[in-house]
Amino acid sequence: QATALDEVRAAADVAALDAVQSAFLGKKGQVQQVLRTIGKLDPKERGPVGRAANEAKQAIEGALEVRRSELLAAADANLAESEWVDATLPPPAGARASGRGGSIHPITALVRDMEDVFLSMGFETLDGPWVEDDHHNFGALNIPADHPARDMQDTYWLTDGNLLRTHTSPVQVRAMETREPPIRAVCLGRIFRNEELDATHENTFHQCEGFFVDRDVSVGHMIYVLESLLHEIIGPDVKVRLRPSYFPFVEPGFEMDVTFRGDWMELLGCGMVHPSVLEAGGIDPNEYSGFAFGMGIDRLVMVRHGVEDIRHLMSGDLRFLSQFT
Ligand code: PHE
Repeated sequence: QATALDEVRAAADVAALDAVQSAFLGKKGQVQQVLRTIGKLDPKERGPVGRAANEAKQAIEGALEVRRSELLAAADANLAESEWVDATLPPPAGARASGRGGSIHPITALVRDMEDVFLSMGFETLDGPWVEDDHHNFGALNIPADHPARDMQDTYWLTDGNLLRTHTSPVQVRAMETREPPIRAVCLGRIFRNEELDATHENTFHQCEGFFVDRDVSVGHMIYVLESLLHEIIGPDVKVRLRPSYFPFVEPGFEMDVTFRGDWMELLGCGMVHPSVLEAGGIDPNEYSGFAFGMGIDRLVMVRHGVEDIRHLMSGDLRFLSQFT
């Protein structure tokens, strides 16, 4: 019993304790061996020896229980040390090969690449709410209640009169409301439109909004920034052209096309921020001017990776996603 209690107290972990337990209390353990010899003893000795063996057994069991809970409590206290995971390590080679390793979603990857380019040009990245109010999504962008431009943006209206933002342009308004020029910012984020779904239309997609408000900002600055971005993202040989276009919140307004597989591809809307929009954002249009642009991100991802159906992007389908590990 004395030896057993010493060993129980000395056990440094649960495995060592289990070994002590089986050495003394197991089927072939020392206590069991004593009990097995009782039948061969002198009848007068059987009672005292049996009692002593049982007392030893109980004492050892009690000590085991105490030590076991001590060890478990210590293991719990060390959990942060013993169980920590380095989430920055790459997955094991096997997990990658089987497609079960995690991966960056192709939209996230492009968003990060674009943000890097903008950061290098001195732009900051902003976020805005997905649930917007009429004022920020439309009114302050020069789209009053009865304006036909509202019909072009099939809006998900919420029962409380708010809506899911149909573009990232409301972030322009929010930035102007809370900041003083110069403002150089981009917002890359999710937008929502109540579209009929097909291979090129989703109801949840992504835009990159950019804007620059300062003294004497011109169309030339806008072209320079957009060309620089597209050279980094698409390639150094890409060519761009502007076509006049109409968006209520810019004047003049343009669409920018880029060369793609020997043809022009329509890529984004842009223009000089409309004076009423500057005013709605609390900025004096006599003192400041700005440019703004907005482009679809999902379309660029499809071009980048040869994705034939936009619905794959938000499907969460692992057969699609694991191609990007
Ligand atoms: N918000 C416009 C859209 O969703 C794009 C745009 C942004 C156009 C900024 C001009 C300036 O279509």
